[in-house]
Amino acid sequence: MDATVREVLPTQSAISVGMREIEELRRKSIENTELFWEPVANELFWYEKKGALFDKHEKPPYGGWFENWKTNLCFNAVDRWAQSSRKNKVAFFWEGEPGDRKALTYNELYREVNRMASALLRLGVSDGDRVTIYMPMIPELVISLLACARIGAIHSVVFAGFTSQALADRVNDSKSKVLITADGGWRRGKIIELKKIADDALKQCPSVQKVIVAKRTGQEIDMEAYRDMWYDELLKGADSRVRPVPLPGNHPSYILYTSGTTGKPKGAVHSTGGYMLWAYYTQKAVFDIRDEDIYWCTADVGWVTGHTYVVYGPLLTGATSLIYEGAPDFPEPDRWWKLIEEYGVTILYTAPTAIRSFMKFGEHWPGKHDLSSLRLLGTVGEPINPEAWNWYYRTIGGSRCQIVDTWWQTETGGIMISPQTGITQIPLKPGSASVPLPGVDAHIVDENGHELPANRKGFLVIGHPWPGQFMALWGDRERFESVYFKRFPGSYYAADYAMKDHDGYFWLLGRADEVLKIAGHRIGTIELEDALIVHPSVAESAVIGKFDEIKGESPVAFVVLRPGHDPSPALRRELLDHVRNSMGPIAVPGALYFVEKLPKTRSGKIMRRLIRAVVEEKTLGDVSTLEDATSIDEAEKAYRELQKEIRRES
Ligand code: WTA
Repeated sequence: MDATVREVLPTQSAISVGMREIEELRRKSIENTELFWEPVANELFWYEKKGALFDKHEKPPYGGWFENWKTNLCFNAVDRWAQSSRKNKVAFFWEGEPGDRKALTYNELYREVNRMASALLRLGVSDGDRVTIYMPMIPELVISLLACARIGAIHSVVFAGFTSQALADRVNDSKSKVLITADGGWRRGKIIELKKIADDALKQCPSVQKVIVAKRTGQEIDMEAYRDMWYDELLKGADSRVRPVPLPGNHPSYILYTSGTTGKPKGAVHSTGGYMLWAYYTQKAVFDIRDEDIYWCTADVGWVTGHTYVVYGPLLTGATSLIYEGAPDFPEPDRWWKLIEEYGVTILYTAPTAIRSFMKFGEHWPGKHDLSSLRLLGTVGEPINPEAWNWYYRTIGGSRCQIVDTWWQTETGGIMISPQTGITQIPLKPGSASVPLPGVDAHIVDENGHELPANRKGFLVIGHPWPGQFMALWGDRERFESVYFKRFPGSYYAADYAMKDHDGYFWLLGRADEVLKIAGHRIGTIELEDALIVHPSVAESAVIGKFDEIKGESPVAFVVLRPGHDPSPALRRELLDHVRNSMGPIAVPGALYFVEKLPKTRSGKIMRRLIRAVVEEKTLGDVSTLEDATSIDEAEKAYRELQKEIRRES
């Protein structure tokens, strides 16, 4: 940790108290699940509390939460506040990419959600039915999720950057009855024609009976008689009050498709009671959310971070959030910083990739704005390299704000390993997500499931079930058990490579399924990227494994240089030497390419499969099988660009 960071952290004695406190809480939560979670559950509303809060199961996921309790997620997220003194508090400030604005109080949100729920009921949607949502980041998106939750319909949000084939696959897998979409969405000043893409998808989706279309971009679109209707018109005749349906704790609240090691996406199914508790608890424990906060999680609702920390978490805690529709660098690379200044954002939760992109744009962009309202920063989705951590800390946080590096997954429902500013303060170590939350029985094990000592790399597993755990993969029991529970019986296998240091801090080292095996040695691609990125000339890097007849796999590195540095054979040699020096000869990339930019999905993840396809001279194939797909056009363009750069370089 560097000197600046240490200055704002608690003293050594406070630190050890913090660690002891967290460990003690965690021990209690796992040894005595019921006793620990009951008071937390009592902060939420339940129609009925029958029987145990947690039941052990013989079969994966080895437990169920609130199975005989009854509640409603929407009631807890919206009605509770609309019926209280918070009713006129803003739930969401919303800003569209072109600069249009809206604010919705809890009371207004309540009314909108009721009307949408009434419209869905009139269309014949009832509890257990699936509704696919394919929308840009507009208020109607949030309202649609909540309306589904109100009547017990299971929502399945498909990220608006997905292709029609990806949308069709997801609609068909869930057999959704209704699709909610929009005419289009704004992205870097251009319209993404969502309805057109949806129309294409629907040609192969026999289950969909009705399509609801929100008006956003206003261009001409086709509306199919009897099937398609405008959101606004549908809501005109709707009731302003719909009773929330009391649902069992294990009623599925939503399906969210995520990628695995095969091309077919997995539909992670979340519960109602356990998920609600986890979203609520983690929002408080990690972010210490307060009434006066203006909280901004920059994730798209198309991903799990958006589900839990744009929609459910903040609403369940009665918070005020900001939602922004568009691209971070539109019209200029200071859009985010402008938003923070104008809305007085106090908590910013984003992804390391975004931070690294902003680093590349330069400090003068955030420097133009007053960011002094910020009090807490968060990151999620990938390991954050210490360099980006420090930049975030100094340039965005003004060396004043703690950073919560949060590790979790679509499957876990909410944050699992993170600093917990709502519980106590512990020292931060740039690059480490720190320690597991109460309820999270995290261990690092070797291939045989034996717990590893400190500082040894292994697999991250979760022993005891936790409230936010997913319940199933939609319609695929076999895959659910084999992917997550077969490898280490009795535990959930996170497929992440990790290590715990002597202080008990967890270091996440990338996907275990992305780890390279070079001549029998395990090397994390992320570790290699980090090694490159500490070099002063490197802005970003991506490493993939290429088949090698002798070593099994050989790393191939792609490097984006910082402004002021130019590609040259000398610099290539220097970088390879740098890797050799920091990681040993075995890790030295067999090839290193300088590129202008890395192919990334809109949510900011590096498209490794695409890079691999280029390197291995394979065709791009179906991009919906990319780990975090983006539009076909974008992927193909990125593929061609990378191909050109490689050819030029070789
Ligand atoms: C990675 C996103 C390091 C990890 C919420 C995990 C992280 C995968 C972190 C899940 C972090 C997420 N540090 N790695 N703080 N957070 N990951 O399902 O590999 O999109 O398995 O959920 O992201 O990605 P998913």
